[in-house]
Amino acid sequence: MSITLKTPEDIEKMRIVGLLAAEQLRIIVPHIKAGVSTNDLNQICHDYTIDVQQAIPAPLNYHGFPKSICTSVNHQVCHGIPSDKILKDGDIINIDVTVIKDGYHGDTSKMFFVGEPSILAKRLCRTSHECMKLGIDMVKPGIHLGDIGHAIQTHAEGNNFSVVREYCGHGIGKVFHEDPQVLHYGTPGTGIILEPGMIFTIEPMINAGKRQVKSLPDGWTVVTKDRSLSAQWEHTILVTDDGHDVLTKLPDEDI
Ligand code: MF3
Ligand code: CO
Ligand code: CO
Repeated sequence: MSITLKTPEDIEKMRIVGLLAAEQLRIIVPHIKAGVSTNDLNQICHDYTIDVQQAIPAPLNYHGFPKSICTSVNHQVCHGIPSDKILKDGDIINIDVTVIKDGYHGDTSKMFFVGEPSILAKRLCRTSHECMKLGIDMVKPGIHLGDIGHAIQTHAEGNNFSVVREYCGHGIGKVFHEDPQVLHYGTPGTGIILEPGMIFTIEPMINAGKRQVKSLPDGWTVVTKDRSLSAQWEHTILVTDDGHDVLTKLPDEDI
């Protein structure tokens, strides 16, 4: 296990690609509505990445993933493959984008509403966003990774939701997924100690029902075993000398 500490030059490039990833989640917003397919959303992000950003969609062909973004709807937890599936009123959808620019990766995802989802769906999306924010708030030199996981787990379970264990946040840089693994559950004071120059994602997957998940026969799409709703948010975070910077946030937006 080895964690790369980023140089000032690395960090400059991670800031640039982080903004590109964030920009994609902004331009896609007006297209998320009942009647569009997840393939339509994939095509828009793909074309924007290539034609406008002159960047590369990292998921495409990553270990054989066939599309440029992940779209995970309702009880889909993560790694949903865009398809001809049509969004309908009341759906919740996670869009997860990862961009490569100049050899560096920026990774971020958000939940979006299609029309008016149920009260439960909206509460799940809000709580999972709070989980991510509470995890991010912890980040500074000297804390343990377990402190982040504990903050997330406590908030999720305190709201009677569950935390997916099989997938976690990850170090990121020239490599898409590198050490450390950032668990979204855990015990304070355990795990590695954060140092300035580390960059990793925090991306909790929170289920309305039980935490257990399974993969579909397509080899990618992860769903809740009990078919309960699931929600996820993700940012790429830099550990600074006195705290953290969220690299995948646009200047005029909140995390
Ligand atoms: N973006 C996802 C993450 O947050 C990984 C997607 S890998 C893919 O780590 F192959 F499914 F695209
Ligand atoms: Co990620
Ligand atoms: Co991601």
